[in-house]
Amino acid sequence: MTMKILVVGGGGREHAITRALSRNTETELYAVMARANPGISELCRELLLEKETRIDAISAFALKKSIDYAIIGPEAPLEAGVVDRLEAEGVPCMGPTRAAARLETDKAFCREMMERHGIAGCPRYRVFRTADEAVRFLEGHAGDLAVKPIGLTGGKGVRIMGEHVDRRGAVDYIRSLGSDIVLEERLIGEEFTLQAFTDGTHLVPMPLVQDHKRAYEGDEGPNTGGMGSYSMPDHGLPFITENDQRSALGIMQSAVAAMNEAGTPYRGILYGQFMNTRDGPMVIEFNARFGDPEAMNVLSLLETDLVGIIERSIDGTLSRSRVRFAEKATVCKYIVPEGYPDSPVAGQPISLGPYDPALLYYANVEEREGILSTQSSRTIAFVGLGRTLSEAEEIAELAASGVKGRVRHRRDIGSATLLKKRIDHMKELR
Ligand code: AMP
Ligand code: GLY
Repeated sequence: MTMKILVVGGGGREHAITRALSRNTETELYAVMARANPGISELCRELLLEKETRIDAISAFALKKSIDYAIIGPEAPLEAGVVDRLEAEGVPCMGPTRAAARLETDKAFCREMMERHGIAGCPRYRVFRTADEAVRFLEGHAGDLAVKPIGLTGGKGVRIMGEHVDRRGAVDYIRSLGSDIVLEERLIGEEFTLQAFTDGTHLVPMPLVQDHKRAYEGDEGPNTGGMGSYSMPDHGLPFITENDQRSALGIMQSAVAAMNEAGTPYRGILYGQFMNTRDGPMVIEFNARFGDPEAMNVLSLLETDLVGIIERSIDGTLSRSRVRFAEKATVCKYIVPEGYPDSPVAGQPISLGPYDPALLYYANVEEREGILSTQSSRTIAFVGLGRTLSEAEEIAELAASGVKGRVRHRRDIGSATLLKKRIDHMKELR
């Protein structure tokens, strides 16, 4: 029987989701996005070109096409309540309701939930409704802090004292935010991402991934949505012990249990962003969806049918033993417009070189009469798969460096030098 599946979102992550779904030949795929993504478009029966937060239009489209299941890529439609609406109309979704998505969309809610349920890995934090109160607290506090707006910022809203800003800069930033601010202790360590499928009770972990937020090589420059990411053949990371990995999954399991207990069950993909500190993993944040780029690493490895995973997560029968990922390394490199993220040059033509055997994922890119051109966000991504990290890196780098036009990428993602830096940093801390 053909399954009709709707994908909400139009970036690199959603291209990876759509491609994984398309490996099941019994599917008929549909997608909603603001501007046609050439990669997704090619795999779909029909697209709805519409803002991903236009709930009415999305639900009308889903009903008209008799969609069986929907899967939600980005956070904005979750926050807008797309899952609540589609499920009310009888379309089950892979993705949390608006109330459950607050785990991502409301940083104060997330921290308060962790504290209330005694979940491990919660940094010391304070929530402030006004800038004045936050500034007063900061001025009376000796250590470095992370300054965060409570709501969604596309990964670009956090300022860390001693890293992005000094004390004066932190005060200015708090004043520019004006209200609804979280201040947290600054965590020191190495970051990693653990994503899991969940049916509201069971969690199925995916391979660990490390993302690269900073725009430039050597982790310099402003924070971005993520410039690229890598994962290892054993699905761990060389600076994360098995014990750390178990703790991180335990924290996510507790968060899902707590959401259940609170009457807002969490179903979909749970993304844990962790800082591996001297004392183990601490939660930087939860996201209510796959990461972008991290989705491209894990979905390129997924051997199990994603449609089956969606079905089992909806009927509450997810089981770890039935989900398999290839035991390979992955390296994902994003090609971004020159000037990204602060002043990206949009509307510039690009041309691709030969990229095989790398996988190509389209993101914020326009195709007109066969010509690809940049938009203001991340353009396209290449994923290399290999038996070793260096093999995967070489494949991704060769593909990325073949792109011509006013674009750039980080050459160091997945490199031995960068990996050694991470390992040495962790050794130094422990
Ligand atoms: P977020 O938007 O919460 O993912 O934060 C963006 C980035 O800021 C993270 O990937 C970390 O690099 C950094 N960050 C966030 N919170 C903290 C913290 N408490 N301590 C240190 N770094 C942090
Ligand atoms: N790569 C970070 C995120 O998707 O939030």
